[in-house]
Amino acid sequence: MFKSIFAMAACALVLTSAGAYAAQTQSPPILIKFAHVVADNTPKGQGALLFKRLVEERLGGKVKVEVYANSSLYGDANELQALRNNDVQLLAPSLAKFEKYTKQLQVFDLPFLFDDLNAVNRFQKRAKGRQLLRVMEDQDIVGLAYWHNGMKQLSANKALLMPGDAAGLRFRIQPSSVLEAQFKQLHATAQVLPFAEVFDALKNTKVQGAENPWSNIYSKQLHTVQPFITETNHGVLDYMLVSNSRFWYAIPHRIRSELEGIIDEVTYEVNRQAEAANQADRLRIAASGKSRLITLDEQQRAAWRQAMQPVWQQFEQEIGADVIKAAQTVNRKQRD
Ligand code: SIN
Repeated sequence: MFKSIFAMAACALVLTSAGAYAAQTQSPPILIKFAHVVADNTPKGQGALLFKRLVEERLGGKVKVEVYANSSLYGDANELQALRNNDVQLLAPSLAKFEKYTKQLQVFDLPFLFDDLNAVNRFQKRAKGRQLLRVMEDQDIVGLAYWHNGMKQLSANKALLMPGDAAGLRFRIQPSSVLEAQFKQLHATAQVLPFAEVFDALKNTKVQGAENPWSNIYSKQLHTVQPFITETNHGVLDYMLVSNSRFWYAIPHRIRSELEGIIDEVTYEVNRQAEAANQADRLRIAASGKSRLITLDEQQRAAWRQAMQPVWQQFEQEIGADVIKAAQTVNRKQRD
């Protein structure tokens, strides 16, 4: 009797676990839609595709990733709201595009704050940079990583050698008050436009200039409608990989840990290759003969830096003096 009760209980247990297992294996995979606004052949485009490949290799059946490039699902105007509504689960907007949710990330837009991408990298890895990944959690946006694109160059329909040369021109900007103020310092005007509209706006001279890293210029063929590009390296265009915090923390712990491991790997690859990708695109642009590349000498570069410097003071309070100070310490070169 006792034996048969035990056998029945054991059988029930197996069935229950098997049922749970079956339910688990039959449950549909977690769907992650990853939307972005650039082309596949850019650091971010490549990062998104690598993320998809690694997730499907390692978590196939449990997690499915769909990548939507070139603003094909959401564009600049609505992607962050779509993330907050959980209509899309991963984005990597440029750091300039978070102003509505936090002022602190505007530190990345301050002109001539970072000497180069290595300095940006050091800031992102240090405590203050890490803290900034979390500053939008109260608005359901969690930062998972920083991804590099590169330093920005100024392009225009005329040669820009000195800051005064930009006066009177209209430049396309991302939605950032810092970038608006930067062009105001040059006696130019700024117009916010979604990335998807930049090529047409330059082509039909709705705007006469723009600021972009080489990879964005080349992948969108902006050099074919901008006869001059000045190698200013005056600011950085990097990304924050973000998810909806409610979605992200609801993913079962084991799966989320695996996803975080994959994100670390992809981040390492994106950031390792971004500078080389930008330099390769710079060479392609130079070889195209469509745009003249202008290199600044030390004196000219100092004049641009000086012209834009007042922007730092203007935004110090909003961004936080502590954040700016932490960013300044990452440059290796000594400045006066
Ligand atoms: C991007 O690289 O995601 C686009 C940045 C821009 O809007 O200029």
